[in-house]
Amino acid sequence: MAILLIRQDGKTSQWLNAFKSQASQIECFDYNEPHPKETITMALVWKQPHGLFEQYKNLKCVASMGAGVDFIFEDPSFHQELLMTRVVDPLLITDMEEFVTAQVYAYMKGLYQYHSQQSFSLWQQNPYLRKKDITIGIMGMGVLGSATAKALSDQGFNVLGWSNSKKQIEGITTYEKVDLDLFLEKTNVLVCLLPLTPDTNGILNESLFSKLPRGAYLIHVARGPHLVGEDLIQSIDKGQMCGAAIDVFPTEPLDTKSPFWGHSKIHITPHCASISSPESVVAQIVVNYNRLTSHQPLLNQVDTLKGY
Ligand SMILES: NC(=O)c1ccc[n+]([C@@H]2O[C@H](COP(=O)([O-])OP(=O)(O)OC[C@H]3O[C@@H](n4cnc5c(N)ncnc54)[C@H](OP(=O)(O)O)[C@@H]3O)[C@@H](O)[C@H]2O)c1
Repeated sequence: MAILLIRQDGKTSQWLNAFKSQASQIECFDYNEPHPKETITMALVWKQPHGLFEQYKNLKCVASMGAGVDFIFEDPSFHQELLMTRVVDPLLITDMEEFVTAQVYAYMKGLYQYHSQQSFSLWQQNPYLRKKDITIGIMGMGVLGSATAKALSDQGFNVLGWSNSKKQIEGITTYEKVDLDLFLEKTNVLVCLLPLTPDTNGILNESLFSKLPRGAYLIHVARGPHLVGEDLIQSIDKGQMCGAAIDVFPTEPLDTKSPFWGHSKIHITPHCASISSPESVVAQIVVNYNRLTSHQPLLNQVDTLKGY
């Protein structure tokens, strides 16, 4: 039995090294190197090339290297008999809390505006917002959304949360799926932390932006295809939205010709809100691999019928 690592961004050796130092007894292979296919029972993947899973007849589980699993569902060679797991990791959670919090403060205090003023040697004080002026609405109150909501609420922000099912979290007003419009009308800083599913694809569009109070701000840290880019630009140009911080894009890296790059009210980061740490994540993969080997239920298993 062995684990196959499949990613195409040159980071596989970091993961192999983490296995070597934490679980040298487990055989791990880079999919690009020669390996005995019949030994593979678990595939550990991040944005894998499609069509590979069917080559592994003894494959039982596909494990995501991150919190998201959309790229596994999109692969036609993933089938319902395979188990799927994702990462739920304390580092991933605090990294996301900190990143969203940093973006909220940068927006409130107009830090991006000062950064652009600097390129014109422009000394100019601008009005800024205080906590009482904003209501942060978080779409997706799962592992990352609810922790981020709590972190912001603990700092004195007014926080709302929206998710499929209603949540009970102290200090946070929560809305269930049917109450989206009620949630939007009270939100002026919208944070997207939804999983990408057929239901949420394209959800950040002109119609949704029009239901926010005029001049709202978007912090998008979930997945690129949630956002209809042209709709955001039009909504900013009309003043319905005042700007956005965007960390994720339908095609990554973002095309150098994208209008987002040159837009003064759109602030781009390269999918870095919260990045899985191999050292931290490999420990839970090892636990799940041992559970798989001994036919025990897996941790952080994804409900493949629900789709996230
Ligand atoms: N930018 C980055 O660096 C980065 C890093 C890590 C993760 N992410 C993104 O963050 C996403 C969220 O991660 P997570 O671990 O928090 O996911 P999660 O625990 O699965 O939470 C998903 C939340 O979204 C809600 N939801 C799902 N579909 C919905 C719908 N159609 N309408 C309303 N609510 C819906 C769920 O509602 P219920 O609670 O009712 O089921 C749940 O609250 C990931 O999928 C990934 O795309 C980004």
